[in-house]
Amino acid sequence: MIELPTTSGDGYQSNGYPGSAYEPVFADNELVFDEKESAQIETWKSQYPTVDGAIMRVLWLAQEKFGFLPPEVIRLAAKATGIPYAKAYGVATFYTQYFKKKKGRHVLDVCTCFSCQLCGGFDILHYLEEKLGITSGETTSDGEFTIQQVECLGACDGAPMLQVTNGRYVMQLTPEKIDALLDALREGRDVAFESMTLPQDQDEMGGNRRSDVTNVLESRPAPVSKTIK
Ligand code: FES
Repeated sequence: MIELPTTSGDGYQSNGYPGSAYEPVFADNELVFDEKESAQIETWKSQYPTVDGAIMRVLWLAQEKFGFLPPEVIRLAAKATGIPYAKAYGVATFYTQYFKKKKGRHVLDVCTCFSCQLCGGFDILHYLEEKLGITSGETTSDGEFTIQQVECLGACDGAPMLQVTNGRYVMQLTPEKIDALLDALREGRDVAFESMTLPQDQDEMGGNRRSDVTNVLESRPAPVSKTIK
C-alpha cells in the first residue's frame, strides 16, 4: 500500500505530485481519459445526488485502464470526478480491491478468515506460496501471479476458497485444484465460476440457486485445517 503523502499548502509539490520523494509511474501525457471514458464518467456523476458518489466507479475505470492506482492516477480520477485528491485517496486506500501497487497479471486473494481458516485456508495459502516461490503480498518474478491474504469474501460455504483478480471465486480448494487453476491461468483459459449446491434446493435446479451455471459443486463435509493461526 502506498504511504499517505506528506504534503503542505495545496497538498502538492512543485512538480504537481504529492510527497517530495515520489516519482510518478505515468507521464502527464498518459494521464488522460479519452472521450468515451469522459462521457461515461459524466453519466455516472449525473446518477448520484452529489458527484462524490461516482468516485468508486471512476477509480475502477482508472484501474482497468492503468492496471493499478498510483497517486497520479488517483489524482486523475479525483479531477475527473470533481472531488479533492484526499477524498479519492481515502476511498482508494480503504478497499483492497483497488490496487495501489502494480500487481501480477493474476491476483489470487486467498481467504484465511474464520471459516476458511478452520477448513484449511492457511494450508492453501502455504501450498500456493511454496508452489510459486513467493509469500503473501508478493508477485512472481515473471509478473504472472500475486498472492494476497484476505478477509472473508462471503463464500464461507465453499471454504477454503480464493478469488481471482477481483472476479471469479474458486471454492472447495484442494492442492490438485490449485495446480489446475494455475495451469489454466497461465494458459489463458477461463476459470469456471462455481456455484454451490445447497441441500435444501435439491429438488429445484438440481440444487443450484443459479440457473445460468453449469459448473455446480456438490455440498460436502468441510475439510479440517492442518494449519490454524
Ligand atoms: S471465511 Fe472465507 S469466505 Fe468467509
